[in-house]
Amino acid sequence: MLDKKYYHNNLDKLKQMSEEVSKDPFLPCFHIYPKSGWLNDPNGLCQVDGTYHIYFQYSPFDENKKDILWGHVSSKDLINFTREEPFIYSDSEFDRDGAYSGSAFVANNEINFFYTGNVKYDGDYDYVNDGREHNTIRVKSIDGVTYGCKELLLTNSDYPKNMTKHVRDPKIFNENNFYYMFLGARNREDKGLVLVYKSSDLKDFSYFMTIESVENFGYMWECPDYFKLNKQGILICCPQGVEKEDFKYQNIYQAGFFPINMDLENKKYELGDFYELDYGFDFYAPQTFEDENGRRILIAWMGMPDANYTNPTIEYKWQHCLTIPRELKYDEGKLYQKPISELCKLREEKLSLERGGKCNLQVYEAFSNDISSDFEINLRKDVKLSYQEETLTLDMGESSYGRKIREIKIENIENIRIYSDKSSLEIFINDGSYVLSTRVYSLDYLFYSKDLDFTIYPLKNIIIK
Ligand code: FRU
Repeated sequence: MLDKKYYHNNLDKLKQMSEEVSKDPFLPCFHIYPKSGWLNDPNGLCQVDGTYHIYFQYSPFDENKKDILWGHVSSKDLINFTREEPFIYSDSEFDRDGAYSGSAFVANNEINFFYTGNVKYDGDYDYVNDGREHNTIRVKSIDGVTYGCKELLLTNSDYPKNMTKHVRDPKIFNENNFYYMFLGARNREDKGLVLVYKSSDLKDFSYFMTIESVENFGYMWECPDYFKLNKQGILICCPQGVEKEDFKYQNIYQAGFFPINMDLENKKYELGDFYELDYGFDFYAPQTFEDENGRRILIAWMGMPDANYTNPTIEYKWQHCLTIPRELKYDEGKLYQKPISELCKLREEKLSLERGGKCNLQVYEAFSNDISSDFEINLRKDVKLSYQEETLTLDMGESSYGRKIREIKIENIENIRIYSDKSSLEIFINDGSYVLSTRVYSLDYLFYSKDLDFTIYPLKNIIIK
């Protein structure tokens, strides 16, 4: 449990920790990071009355994951942010071991938040088949800052009999005057899947159908999301337990999407192949929302659970950040991720860096267009991105705390756009049809390519007050 009272009684500790955080040379300049402690999944993303709300899984008093509640930042323009007080605390018998991930659904000027209340029993349990509750809970809010009461909507006994106790991360959408909730789940045969619940009032949800792949694709699908883009249904999820293949599924857990054609009236669907959303070391639990301008925006956790690499930021009492927001587009069978246009407001005076030229900026956006040859780029002194024989290689060198080499097959590279922050890189290839996001820990900020010309914009900081 971590309730509001505990949080307020320990503000001194938070202050001390955040003083440490602010001394970290790796502190991001244009990414959302926790004031202190640990951050994971983005939650409850929405825009209401012009204000964007970004919530996230948050352990304020511990730089390693511990008591999880919902942290919160808000913004009118995605450049100037306000740190709000934590939103959902772990303070009831239904979420006493963590206010786990969830989402927002805006209806009639009211935000409905759905999340998973985690409960772990004391005793000798495996916590997969026994010893755990995953409760689906709703809170309603007008302003995104305060809410009424916690309403318990679904408990273990409402999930199909062949499920393990891992059923979580609700995401809601509406179609033909009904509301559908997607929940990520693991069944007793260790197959990952999505459970679909249906409601006419956003409160009483009943089991509707299951979405699964024909062949087993991992033992658990976390953080499902569903939306349509350019008429194509997209099912995002994070499968755990997928075998590594050459050039594919290189992280311990995956984050990607299936193109899906949903026929809800007839409880039918067609699932396409799974595509990874990102090929870097640190990208997980993406969540999307449609903003008031009709853009489908994706934000992910720039981290990876249970990875065998680490972050030196723990010395400064914090860990992890969110990715930059990316606008999604779908065209001719391809999904594109494009950094939101607001980020252009951070640009300072443009520099041209001809091939062979060097620069030691730390925080910048760099792009190269009309690429027609193989290439090598130094992103830090010992971090290299190279392209040869239709293989893109990201070699993290010696200073990235266990992150090593990533290779992906790409037939042809036409353009590259790189966002470099103090301790992260987000690399968008071919208009964002391939992306690599990673944390990077080198203080040797050398940027250089003998093969490509670059246009570079040093970037200003976002403001987080
Ligand atoms: C994904 C996840 C979710 C869960 C949350 C708990 O990173 O494991 O499935 O709700 O994190 O923090």
